[in-house]
Amino acid sequence: MPNANRRLVLKSRPTGFAGPQHFAEETVPVRAPEDGEALLESLLISVDPAMRVWISENPGYVPRVEIGEVMRAFGIARVLESRADGLAVGDLVQARPGWQSYATLPAKEIEKLDLSLGSAEDWIGPLGLTGVTAYFSLRDIARSRPGETVLVSGAAGAVGQMVGQIARIDACRVVGIAGGAEKCAYLTEQASFHAAIDYKTETNLAAAIARACPDGIDVFHDNVGGAILDAAIANLRVGGRVVVCGRISQTAADELYGVRNLGTLIGKRGRLEGFVVFDYEARYGEARAWIAARIKTGELRQKLHVIDGLERLPEGLGMLFRGENLGKLVVRVSQ
Ligand SMILES: NC(=O)c1ccc[n+]([C@@H]2O[C@H](COP(=O)([O-])OP(=O)(O)OC[C@H]3O[C@@H](n4cnc5c(N)ncnc54)[C@H](OP(=O)(O)O)[C@@H]3O)[C@@H](O)[C@H]2O)c1
Repeated sequence: MPNANRRLVLKSRPTGFAGPQHFAEETVPVRAPEDGEALLESLLISVDPAMRVWISENPGYVPRVEIGEVMRAFGIARVLESRADGLAVGDLVQARPGWQSYATLPAKEIEKLDLSLGSAEDWIGPLGLTGVTAYFSLRDIARSRPGETVLVSGAAGAVGQMVGQIARIDACRVVGIAGGAEKCAYLTEQASFHAAIDYKTETNLAAAIARACPDGIDVFHDNVGGAILDAAIANLRVGGRVVVCGRISQTAADELYGVRNLGTLIGKRGRLEGFVVFDYEARYGEARAWIAARIKTGELRQKLHVIDGLERLPEGLGMLFRGENLGKLVVRVSQ
């Protein structure tokens, strides 16, 4: 058993973007597992916008991370020692190990990966929370139908790339909004989007959406909020649906953007609905089976953005808010 556990704890609550200055590195002894527990070695740690919310004063529907506490995070790990039924040394699992190299957790908080569905890299993206989020957004909240136009913001990110590809498989017309030429080229050349809009160079985003979606939008999957949400609502068709999945533009903003176009929802009989993926836990299996089948045929492909080293996790969290990730951002802690 290893004896030194490197970990990153919350040092102070950020205003604005989070970064290395808000976390402190510590080395503590590794805790041996007790009955019903397993010792895990972190392999891949997921970097998610929600983490910035978890370290704020009032995160809302989840408890905040306290000062001095190990930063909370989802990840893929390997079992190093087990005193729990159903978990054996060497098993690959998903859990919430946090920002540390080793975690000792109860078995009920550890899920063994079904590697017949996909690899560890698939499990941190399409088979993990990001793929499942995309699946239920389109299937259950938006209820998209073949032939409809689906617009996605944050389209070149983890969830966005999945929403676009799933909508395309479902025979929708798919348009993505992303920041920069490289991301837009990725969307149309590799991620099967029909068109992409670079919101950083468009001076009139509503007009750019109208050009890319001349018949209007049936579904807007929003990861970003703020002015992008407004511009999309302005282009809704009658019966259009807006899924409020995320609002990263507002998460660390000094001043919140007041949405102006809500009145459009009246005449368009539009629907705007938020959702939390955890509500679908009982149905993750359904989403994973569907996604795994499309990964196998090559119809669904993940772009993974990997950075190396536990100490780079705080930098990774900032990257999401500066738009420096292309695809699903993860930190590789160990091979
Ligand atoms: N409701 C749920 O249950 C649920 C579950 C999972 C995730 N989410 C939400 O889904 C969203 C996407 O998460 P993700 O993990 O897939 O992250 P991500 O899209 O991989 O990364 C964040 C992206 O947001 C964009 N962004 C950052 N600041 C922006 C701004 N001010 N304006 C416009 N775009 C901005 C950046 O792309 P650009 O370079 O294109 O700007 C960045 O790459 C997040 O809001 C997250 O909280 C919700």
